[in-house]
Amino acid sequence: MSLVKTILLGRPNGIRSKLRKVVGGGSRDVDTSPDSSYSAPRQDSRPAPAEQALGLHPEAPKDITPPEGYEVVLHKDALKPGKVVEIIIAGKAIAVANVDGEFHACTNSCPHADGPLGEGELDGSVLSCPYHGWRFDLSDGSCLTNADVTLKTFDVAIEKDAVCVRL
Ligand code: FES
Repeated sequence: MSLVKTILLGRPNGIRSKLRKVVGGGSRDVDTSPDSSYSAPRQDSRPAPAEQALGLHPEAPKDITPPEGYEVVLHKDALKPGKVVEIIIAGKAIAVANVDGEFHACTNSCPHADGPLGEGELDGSVLSCPYHGWRFDLSDGSCLTNADVTLKTFDVAIEKDAVCVRL
């Protein structure tokens, strides 16, 4: 039953749980009123609740034209050195990491058993999967645990204040 619950509601410390705590105020009650999905445009520069939950502030710049084939994924000051985060962009879940000021991106899905790499631990350029601890070097995608495996990585470009990823 707990596997089904995890599939439906997400992991206890996963992105869905964090968003649910902020958006739902920690409650699982769902507002089914007709206006429950409406959200008025924000009039100030404070981060939206979801961005606060993920610690992604400032929000990704909207006035940047990314290089051809790239997508703007976050503001370069939103992710501190040594941190990694899961981001959904263009329908893909990717993990973006700040390695001592240099950004790296890879698929969020661990090649071992689909662990969420955006919730992993970063040590230098080595990212450890939170599920079984497989280790990957983000500089080239090599797996330090299993030499037969390579992690899919994405090119990253910095455009003014924006971290852009070629998907
Ligand atoms: S799922 Fe990543 S190490 Fe097993």
